[in-house]
Amino acid sequence: MNHHPAGYSYGDTSLAPSPVSIDTLAQIQRSVLWSEDDSEALRRAGEILVPQTEQILDVWYGFVGANPHLVATFAGSDGQPDGVYLAAVRERFGRWIADLCARPFDADWLAYQEEIALRHHTRGKNRTDGVDSPSGHVPLSHLIALIVPITVTIRDFLGARGADPAEVDAMYHAWMKAVTLSVVLWTRPYNPELW
Ligand code: HEM
Repeated sequence: MNHHPAGYSYGDTSLAPSPVSIDTLAQIQRSVLWSEDDSEALRRAGEILVPQTEQILDVWYGFVGANPHLVATFAGSDGQPDGVYLAAVRERFGRWIADLCARPFDADWLAYQEEIALRHHTRGKNRTDGVDSPSGHVPLSHLIALIVPITVTIRDFLGARGADPAEVDAMYHAWMKAVTLSVVLWTRPYNPELW
């Protein structure tokens, strides 16, 4: 994939290393029941999901747009949803689907998880797209709660290309674990001392 969305900095040398070590990552992976089978199932999930990226984003953005408490985080200085901000984030969100399924969970991946964490937190929100939003952070409560829609809405997309039910199950479980793992890492800046 050659095109990099604006503001996307995965793998950039300017990105600070994650404060989370590979050993700690391995512990969290054990906590979410991660196995080698999941790595393979997630790769296969990516092959099915990436071609459906726009339809998936339509579902997720539809959900966010229908919920004032969620879309409020995309408000511009006038308090209304900022279309430019929404579109810029949408492009990176699409890239995230591909990265989550295809990239190794290594130091570069960890560094970008910390960056995404900061982009939801007061330390980094609005910075990447230079927006003047009254919303200074994504509440941790909603960040965690969104694991559910980001997980359950993916099942139909995994099943849409004729995979048998056992295979859909395997990919679905891998997706759920990978999303949970990501959001666990994104919670770190909200309470670094107790994390
Ligand atoms: C940014 C995913 C929860 C609001 C992003 C990005 C991704 C993402 C991939 C772009 C990262 C990048 O810049 O490369 C997710 C996932 C979530 C989640 C998977 C939960 C499972 C939420 C919630 C809200 C939210 C609950 C709002 C209440 C935002 C906003 C940005 C953003 C406003 C842009 C932040 C900025 O850079 O200014 N999210 N997100 N996200 N997300 Fe989330």
